[in-house]
Amino acid sequence: MFVAICDDEKNKLMKYADIQWRDGQPYNPGYDDIYYSSTGGREESEYVFLEHNHLAMRWQKLVADEPFIIAETGFGTGLNFILSMKAWLEQGNPGTCLHYVAVEKHPVSPADIAKVAENWPDLSSFYDELLSVYPVPVEGEHCRALFDGRVYLHLIFEDVVDAFESREIGADAWYLDGFGPDKNADLWSAQVFRLIEKNSKQGATLSTYTAAGFVRRGLQAAGFEVNKVKGHGKKREMITAVLIDKKLHPSDTPWYVLEKIKVKNKTAVIIGAGLVGLTTAWSLVQRGWQVSLIEKHENVAEEASGNPAGLLMPRLSIDNKNDAMFYTSALLYASNCLDRLQQKSEQKFWFHDGVYSIFKAGKAEKLINKHGYAKQFMVILDQPDLQNYIDDQTATVSFFPEAGWASPKGVCESLLRACGSSLKLINKNVADVVKVDNQWQAVDEQGQNIACAEVMIVANGVGANQFEVVSWLPVSSVRGQITAIPASESSLSLNKALSFDAYVTPEYKGVHYAGATYRVGDENQQLTQEEQEETLSHLEQCLPGVFEKPGQLNGRVGFRPVSDDMTAIVGAAPDKQAFAEDYKELHHGRPSAQYPQAKYLSGLYVNAAHGSRGICSSFLSAEILAAMIEGTPLPVSKGVVDHLSPARFLIRKLKRGKLLE
Ligand SMILES: Cc1cc2nc3c(=O)[nH]c(=O)nc-3n(C[C@H](O)[C@H](O)[C@H](O)COP(=O)(O)OP(=O)(O)OC[C@H]3O[C@@H](n4cnc5c(N)ncnc54)[C@H](O)[C@@H]3O)c2cc1C
Ligand SMILES: C[S@@+](CC[C@H](N)C(=O)[O-])C[C@H]1O[C@@H](n2cnc3c(N)ncnc32)[C@H](O)[C@@H]1O
Repeated sequence: MFVAICDDEKNKLMKYADIQWRDGQPYNPGYDDIYYSSTGGREESEYVFLEHNHLAMRWQKLVADEPFIIAETGFGTGLNFILSMKAWLEQGNPGTCLHYVAVEKHPVSPADIAKVAENWPDLSSFYDELLSVYPVPVEGEHCRALFDGRVYLHLIFEDVVDAFESREIGADAWYLDGFGPDKNADLWSAQVFRLIEKNSKQGATLSTYTAAGFVRRGLQAAGFEVNKVKGHGKKREMITAVLIDKKLHPSDTPWYVLEKIKVKNKTAVIIGAGLVGLTTAWSLVQRGWQVSLIEKHENVAEEASGNPAGLLMPRLSIDNKNDAMFYTSALLYASNCLDRLQQKSEQKFWFHDGVYSIFKAGKAEKLINKHGYAKQFMVILDQPDLQNYIDDQTATVSFFPEAGWASPKGVCESLLRACGSSLKLINKNVADVVKVDNQWQAVDEQGQNIACAEVMIVANGVGANQFEVVSWLPVSSVRGQITAIPASESSLSLNKALSFDAYVTPEYKGVHYAGATYRVGDENQQLTQEEQEETLSHLEQCLPGVFEKPGQLNGRVGFRPVSDDMTAIVGAAPDKQAFAEDYKELHHGRPSAQYPQAKYLSGLYVNAAHGSRGICSSFLSAEILAAMIEGTPLPVSKGVVDHLSPARFLIRKLKRGKLLE
């Protein structure tokens, strides 16, 4: 019934690797090379990568909470990852996490990975875990927690150079496992070796099955001490290396560079128990933190996040790459998290059925061409039934299989359950936050301490700038109303959520939800007939005659927290006074190296202003913050982190020569 009308070749869409099978083993005809040795691939992988990075011995020496970071060039079928994860779960310190950062330009399909897995039945539980989180082929980073957070996989579906240029991984060990240097020079260039050095800690180790002279020399030039050792099986030699000359890599945006914080214990205070506060709590709890969550209402999700329904859909920008990268990764991450939460819950709150989206003429094609979205992420449909209803016949209908709809309130309640006893909910109104000694205190109207910790996260929606130290954040509220529409015979034909100027969910328990209106500067808390009519008229225009008018006012009013640039605010809180002084010359355009590193209010973070897309953006934002707080590899590129940084508002003003009041 649906036909994809985008031509993969013409549009250079990202797609799964074209794999051929030779004697049951994967082979890539494009590179004329195999993924792993057809004889003893598993043993070779263990020998070359795990043994020659001395992982078992090094893991024994890790102190509690010290993560270990492996980076790999060429994730391929994931064999190295599976073996490393298995070894880590068996030998690693249970109090620490393994972060595995792998680049892959041509993702192998889940079906092909499943076929590889058949070779080693004893590894099936590890492959199952990988496949349960394996992302669709969309450019960007896809970070996933496996085995209850003991292992974090950072799969970066990008070319190696793009991926490593925009990251600071701090790897402890490297696996260089691209196709052979003679068959794939791009992965073994001097530029790649420099980027490996940039993304390593001093003392990082590296191993690879090749002993090619130019690889040895390239690694030496990048600062590694290189050794040739006996190769696996009949292979004569392979390379191991240690980084002995770590260079300084000054940032060209020092104002966004964060100092790593050291905390005595993993306790945090979060203000606000909506989607954003609860996803943040969940990310920290999964990493072994204890969280005090302060909420002024008796229950969670009483404000913006209290809606009975909303769409999980990304905002897709054609020209703003960081924004598009953030939302595409955020959608896939949220979808996977919601699947996991739903599996553990008897109450239904997540409907992973995909979303239809109507775009004005040309926009869907432009998005696909620009970002190379694979059909597993976004596909233009030729769907005559739906097309016939649409007012604007030049518009196109797209389908997003990984999207869906959720009850934000149900999601919040499931997050609360998932945090269990690691989360303490405190029902108090926070009047201000202050730093006393090394601790951030949330205080009440009388100045009494409600809860304190070295780490505090401001996640209280439209109130994010009510506290003195972050009062300059440009956060405001935009009223919205959703409408509940009783299902009718004709409305049952809509079997998936639909997004257009507005949105509507399919029938559930006899009701559709449609929304949402957008009223800047309106503080009215009551439902209005006018807005209900507005929503119904949008629906009628898009799908004439499908929905019956509700006999009465029925819906919910909420207030979206939005920022001045309509982008979420996620990151460390900058020290505004220090920024005003240190960067007052910024508008003169001097080289960035002349400016000092930024000063942040150590331990204070903001996660706010998720606007109309909080279901999509909150899960990944929470993970960004958790990684930032712990100093582990971030789940997005540096460009995306800077795009979301609270400091961006100060820097923009300073660049325009404005004083920070
Ligand atoms: C009508 C409408 C429709 C929407 N539709 C969608 C949709 O389809 N898809 C989508 O992705 N998003 C949608 N959104 C947006 C989404 O709901 C928000 O982005 C998200 O809920 C924001 O979550 P939050 O946790 O930041 O804010 P909130 O849910 O408002 O949570 C903030 C919490 O902080 C508490 N708090 C505030 N100040 C204090 C204080 N001083 N002390 C203690 N507690 C405090 C509040 O009581 C509140 O519980 C919609 C929003 C609205 C209003
Ligand atoms: C030998 S395979 C890796 C095998 C893998 N480690 C495993 O366990 O299955 C090499 C991988 O590098 C990827 N690759 C090749 N060139 C690349 C590039 N420029 N950037 C990122 N990945 C690349 C290939 O698509 C391929 O999956």
